[in-house]
Amino acid sequence: MFDLKLYLAEQREVIDRALAAWLAHPEPEPRIVAAMRHSLMAGGKRLRPVLCLATARAVGQPVPPAALTAAACAIEMVHTYSLIHDDLPAMDDDVTRRGRPTCHVAFDEATAILAGDALLTLAFEVLSAPEAVAGTNAKRWCQVVHELARAAGYRGMVEGQMRDIIAEHTVLTREALEALHRLKTGALIRAAVRMGALLAGASETDLAALDAYARHLGLAFQVADDILNVKGDPVLMGKAAGTDVTRGKNTYPSLLGLAASEALAVRLKDQALQALASFGTTAEPLRAIAIYAVNRNR
Ligand code: IPE
Ligand code: IPE
Ligand code: MG
Ligand code: MG
Repeated sequence: MFDLKLYLAEQREVIDRALAAWLAHPEPEPRIVAAMRHSLMAGGKRLRPVLCLATARAVGQPVPPAALTAAACAIEMVHTYSLIHDDLPAMDDDVTRRGRPTCHVAFDEATAILAGDALLTLAFEVLSAPEAVAGTNAKRWCQVVHELARAAGYRGMVEGQMRDIIAEHTVLTREALEALHRLKTGALIRAAVRMGALLAGASETDLAALDAYARHLGLAFQVADDILNVKGDPVLMGKAAGTDVTRGKNTYPSLLGLAASEALAVRLKDQALQALASFGTTAEPLRAIAIYAVNRNR
């Protein structure tokens, strides 16, 4: 049987080592690097980089390891930047993240804004580094970079965040909420999968199947995040619970109730698994991640 716990631990170690190397700086460490490290090396689940690696494995073709690791690190950097900015007083105003004080609490707002900016730009520095590009197909590598840029920006995560903020203390329709979640969280998760698939030279058919998997997973993941905000344990999550209600956020539990949200998460997980039907055992990590995404407690 596939051991997800062991798999995640191994993959996280690879990612954490690579991320730490990108932040390596001789002493004395500049304040900006300390702030970036504070958030990046705080023990996130690393779900998006692991998805990128697991998707490449599912496709099964060899990929230059440095390229794959760079792609995985770049996604995590963009994700961490999005969390730093998401927690700012101007946005969700949260004081705890990944079990630590949020970046603006540990440092200050200006530093947190800059640390986010620096992580976002570092992601593209990493992707364009000679050691990452070496041995990759130029056209395909451009597609990989394009996936991340597009998913992060105004047609992806940033647009989702904008809708999330604008909609505070209003009630969205179910369609509008789904679109919001697909943008703010789904887009980066989808990019992680697509980047891994593109890097591994997936066929059109495999790419379409993996894309469907990622779309179901991305929505399921944010539905689970909404549910955890209602009933999760802040200590395990490393962030506060109950805040969505206080801030008048549109969430699945607020719209459908908890039981219907939980049923939806399970349905989306099943659809994600269905999308992988044509894959063999190489997709076991992806299957296990889909189950984990809705059963997790952090
Ligand atoms: C939190 O993401 C924000 C969402 C998009 C739901 P994660 O739950 O992946 O957070 P980390 O990376 O493990 O801290
Ligand atoms: C976070 O969404 C999504 C992004 C950072 C893009 P939330 O605001 O719902 O996530 P948490 O609950 O703070 O992690
Ligand atoms: Mg938010
Ligand atoms: Mg938030």
